[in-house]
Amino acid sequence: MNILETKELKKIYGSGETAVHALDGVDFTVQKGEFVAIVGMSGSGKSTLLHMLGGLDRPTSGSVTVDRKDIFSLKDEALTIFRRRKIGFVFQNYNLVPVLNVYENIVLPIELDGNVPDKAYLDSIIDTLGLQSKLQNLPNNLSGGQQQRVAIARALAAKPAIILADEPTGNLDSKTSQDVLGLLKVTSQKFSQTIVMITHNEEIAQLADRIIRIEDGKIVGGGQHD
Ligand SMILES: Nc1ncnc2c1ncn2[C@@H]1O[C@H](COP(=O)(O)OP(=O)(O)OP(=O)(O)O)[C@@H](O)[C@H]1O
Ligand SMILES: [Mg+2]
Repeated sequence: MNILETKELKKIYGSGETAVHALDGVDFTVQKGEFVAIVGMSGSGKSTLLHMLGGLDRPTSGSVTVDRKDIFSLKDEALTIFRRRKIGFVFQNYNLVPVLNVYENIVLPIELDGNVPDKAYLDSIIDTLGLQSKLQNLPNNLSGGQQQRVAIARALAAKPAIILADEPTGNLDSKTSQDVLGLLKVTSQKFSQTIVMITHNEEIAQLADRIIRIEDGKIVGGGQHD
């Protein structure tokens, strides 16, 4: 079953002579439970694509279907709720809330949805990501790699059906990167999650089930599963 599907997805920033065609007709599908890596040069449209998949920004044209639902047919409020329940997003720039400590940041998506955290599960994530001693810290007292690990913990906390991760290991050393990938793989198998991950790192990309290659806003390889 396809959990994610894009059709003729286009995103144009600006207009006239300065218009940027960040996505130029993207068609691809992801099956439930698949772990897909997206690779491509800087500026090729990877983050733009991930933002559209997560309903964070509306496309210029085309569609994104998540679990058979055309997400951009939803009004903003419904889209926000849908995103909160279905999707865990790891942002390229982390997007942690500066006035909340590490623990509060991690449980924020759960609490926004009026739920209670699964303590044992949360402890195991925090432990694997090595964040126990930092739970009371504010984000600006953390290193880049530590903030990245908090962003990963937050994305996993609510056990979302889909994890969209933008360079989740971009600021981590190779040992920590392997640990994070291991955690993503184990939790995704345990909870039948689907992962779409952007990376610059070919070694990390090779750990995925499939590699989608993007160039100048177009898919040039790996768009469909076997
Ligand atoms: N908000 C925006 N306004 C105008 N142009 C934008 C905006 N966001 C992205 N772009 C442009 O769209 C293109 C694709 O950007 P995008 O951020 O998706 O690239 P990327 O593949 O994620 O790059 P990187 O690997 O450096 O993160 C680039 O040319 C970028 O300058
Ligand atoms: Mg990017």
